[in-house]
Amino acid sequence: MNVVNVNITNGSYPINIEPGRLDSLDQIIPEDVTSIAIVTNSTVGILYGKKVRDVLLRTGKNVFYVELPDGEKYKDWITLNKIFDSLLSFKLDRRAVLVALGGGVIGDITGFAASVYMRGIRFIQVPTTLLAQVDSSVGGKTAINHPMGKNMIGSFYQPISVEIDTDVLTTLAPREISSGLAEVIKYGLILDSSFWEWCEDNVNNLLSLDKIAIEYAIKRSCELKSHVVGKDEKESDVRAILNLGHTFGHAIESGLGYGKWLHGEAVGCGLVQAAELSAYSIGFRESDISRIRNMVKSIGCPSNAPNFGFDRWIELMLLDKKNDSGEIRFVLMKNIGEAVIQNVSHNAIKHVITKTATAIF
Ligand code: NAD
Ligand code: GLY
Repeated sequence: MNVVNVNITNGSYPINIEPGRLDSLDQIIPEDVTSIAIVTNSTVGILYGKKVRDVLLRTGKNVFYVELPDGEKYKDWITLNKIFDSLLSFKLDRRAVLVALGGGVIGDITGFAASVYMRGIRFIQVPTTLLAQVDSSVGGKTAINHPMGKNMIGSFYQPISVEIDTDVLTTLAPREISSGLAEVIKYGLILDSSFWEWCEDNVNNLLSLDKIAIEYAIKRSCELKSHVVGKDEKESDVRAILNLGHTFGHAIESGLGYGKWLHGEAVGCGLVQAAELSAYSIGFRESDISRIRNMVKSIGCPSNAPNFGFDRWIELMLLDKKNDSGEIRFVLMKNIGEAVIQNVSHNAIKHVITKTATAIF
């Protein structure tokens, strides 16, 4: 088993990564826990709900089950309240633990529920998409969406552990694998040029979910993310580099309507746009833009952004949470493996939008 520790100011927690990890979930429940509530959705519930419940029943504790509908549109206030209705009707007390079994939607809403139920109870992340295993389950960002913006209501609240079973990836749709791989290659681009080169060499192994390759990619991604979160848990400064490509990506997601492109697909395209912007603004190498474009295409993500028109692009990018006082802040690359955060000129943005946002939608 691979173990990565997330070390933050108020303590640390492990990310345990291994094939078949679901079978060991009973062993990580703390002794003093009174009861366990699994929170999942209808899709993941059918695939893995019974198995996880049976494993957790081995603890001898009460195990409850909360099944939510599947979809980003249910990461909302009404569904959050349904979780509270269930927890209260089960009479869960402050020593209960929530188990978030699912992708990023389930992880985010369950983490947020845990952070406010009875002023905060423990929770465990059991991420079942590649994107959730390499990104959303690690680092303690929890949230629901508001009609006026994605992830606008939330908290920083860390799980007590993250339990990653690489076997569950085999039931994922191919687009979900591509979406997760966009976040994997992002880590190489911002922090680790050797990991980026390893991804270039292993792209086919990653796409076919070769066991050794995918476990290494998840472990390295978790290490890199943990390192950043350890330095800046609440995104006061350096954590923002994790958002490379996301200013463009979020604009694509909200401009097209959430769900048309998956989050990672939009981020993949955003990585190409961020590379173009880095070349125009701080001299990132042209040949490296081609490497990034090729890689984004190889993992199955789009590399041409939608043509919303410049003014609409600006409007959409202004919604990003990274921005400050109405200025759009971008994560740029000096080189592959080295990211910086800065404001860029209007001309630079215009150049990139004109060059990259050409797809008719
Ligand atoms: P998701 O949770 O919607 O899951 C994608 C789809 O895969 C869903 O239909 C789900 O039911 C299904 N699924 C999950 N596991 C499966 C499995 N093993 N086999 C078959 N199907 C499975 O999407 P996601 O990409 O995992 O997460 C996206 C969400 O994560 C967004 O809401 C985004 O805002 C959030 N996010 C949060 C952070 C963070 O730091 N907290 C970071 C990135 C993204
Ligand atoms: N997904 C970006 C972050 O966790 O900060």
